[in-house]
Amino acid sequence: MILITGANGALGRLVAAELADRDDVVLGTRNPGSAAPGSAAPGSADTGSTHAPRPARRRIDFDDPSSLDLTGVDTLLLISAGYGEDDVVIARHDAAITAAEKAGVRHLVYTSLSGDGDHLAYALAHRWTERRLARGPLAWTVLRNGLYAEFLATIAAPGPDGTIAAPLGAGRLAAVARADLAAVAARVAAEPERHAGRVYELVGERALGGAELADAVGGSYEPGSLGAAREAIAGSGGALPYQVPMLVGTYSAIAGGFLDGSGIEENALRTLLGRAPRPALDAYRTAVSALSAS
Ligand SMILES: NC(=O)c1ccc[n+]([C@@H]2O[C@H](COP(=O)([O-])OP(=O)(O)OC[C@H]3O[C@@H](n4cnc5c(N)ncnc54)[C@H](OP(=O)(O)O)[C@@H]3O)[C@@H](O)[C@H]2O)c1
Repeated sequence: MILITGANGALGRLVAAELADRDDVVLGTRNPGSAAPGSAAPGSADTGSTHAPRPARRRIDFDDPSSLDLTGVDTLLLISAGYGEDDVVIARHDAAITAAEKAGVRHLVYTSLSGDGDHLAYALAHRWTERRLARGPLAWTVLRNGLYAEFLATIAAPGPDGTIAAPLGAGRLAAVARADLAAVAARVAAEPERHAGRVYELVGERALGGAELADAVGGSYEPGSLGAAREAIAGSGGALPYQVPMLVGTYSAIAGGFLDGSGIEENALRTLLGRAPRPALDAYRTAVSALSAS
């Protein structure tokens, strides 16, 4: 049995769709009663019955140890549960790994952050989790995901007049379509033993800069300063205090040229996909359209 955590999240939903033809997949989510599109109806048994055409669901909340029942799970796809201070995220991942060890899970696949992301504030919890796995008894595979093209659409969206003011400077991001990362995660989770002990870097093959993003959406690129971005984020009311340096640090790392893919020794994306990656610019454009329509 494969259990996917964060199954109602954007990445988890895509992985579940990739594995939809299997009858041994269980969707782990904090809210099993709210079925994500394409997943099993609430209330399905979670036994992975061969007659069940759609995946079962199980409540999995890393913040609630009593929910971490991983009985019968062979492969755990642990999708990182970011969005928290380091101590919170580390405690979540530790709880999930500890539960996997206790339940006799054979292999844990973890979605981490690309190796060139070490300047990012959220890198620490990912590296802690990688180290926790390396020092533990489970077989594991680490998928070091680059930043999503869809995430770029949220941090470098055009304003109402079409201007992208994100402070990317002349920097570029080797953004990757989230769907490609889901496809890789599904393939690895389906045959984990082939990937035991491997750390895969998964970033876009073509880095995107502000001017190119603006061209893609018919706008213009007029980068602002990090200071202005910090003030705007902090003043928006939409960001928690810890998120302000995370977002500003992301701009800074892109502008500084740390996330353009040149620091990645071996990008495994194409090999693990078994095909060419989706164009990240298309994923960016689609996500911008979806965001402006919502
Ligand atoms: N590479 C990138 O560009 C990038 C960007 C943003 C985030 N990330 C990281 O990648 C992860 C997956 O990305 P995504 O696009 O799927 O993000 P997402 O759509 O925001 O989904 C995140 C999911 O994490 C799960 N989660 C949160 N807190 C949890 C907890 N206490 N216990 C168990 N699960 C918890 C939730 O799943 P349920 O709702 O099913 O419980 C949530 O829906 C994120 O959580 C974050 O760590 C990566």
